[in-house]
Amino acid sequence: MTSLKKIKAISYFKIKELDIKYKIIKNGMTILELGCCPGGISQYILENTHIKILAIDKKLPRYPIKHKNYQFKKFNLFSNKLITYLKSKPQFDLIISDVCENISGIKSHDKASCLKIINRLKTLETFCLKANRTLIFKILEEQLEKHIKTQFANFKKILFKRSTLKKTTSEKYIVCIRKLSTHDKL
Ligand SMILES: C[S@@+](CC[C@H](N)C(=O)[O-])C[C@H]1O[C@@H](n2cnc3c(N)ncnc32)[C@H](O)[C@@H]1O
Repeated sequence: MTSLKKIKAISYFKIKELDIKYKIIKNGMTILELGCCPGGISQYILENTHIKILAIDKKLPRYPIKHKNYQFKKFNLFSNKLITYLKSKPQFDLIISDVCENISGIKSHDKASCLKIINRLKTLETFCLKANRTLIFKILEEQLEKHIKTQFANFKKILFKRSTLKKTTSEKYIVCIRKLSTHDKL
């Protein structure tokens, strides 16, 4: 078991909470993780040794994760280089995005940057995610549920989950599920 002292970020517990509820992380998966630093989510996932992660962030990790199933690449989510790079890779079983821009406090600005992230994730999932697989992302905005449901209408189910460990009242994880199987009863 991971010692509390060594946990890299609170996101370790947030993804754990989602995984316990929705059984998302499974053996043998390949995962694309966006906005991965400092590494709490990766740390949780890598406790399962049969999963491969490609982890992306616009900044370099201060304390890089060294694990045979883990690869870090420095890219901005919005760069064309990232698109080119990902197009050269096999598709993923799961995409997790924890990308969030700094909150300015100016509502229209913060909403616009949240929409920009959502739209980018839409682009990525269309060519990066295997059929019938799951996309998870974080938003820090209220009132975007309608937009998200429209953008990701190709998914069978969209769950809006507030973390019980949330730092801000507006933080939510969106779990988009394509496959109706074990998740069907959610
Ligand atoms: C809340 S932190 C993520 C925590 C991380 N998921 C973990 O488990 O430790 C948000 C991350 O998003 C990254 N980020 C913000 N904007 C980005 C962008 N445009 N492209 C790539 N990464 C970005 C930041 O550098 C930061 O590391």
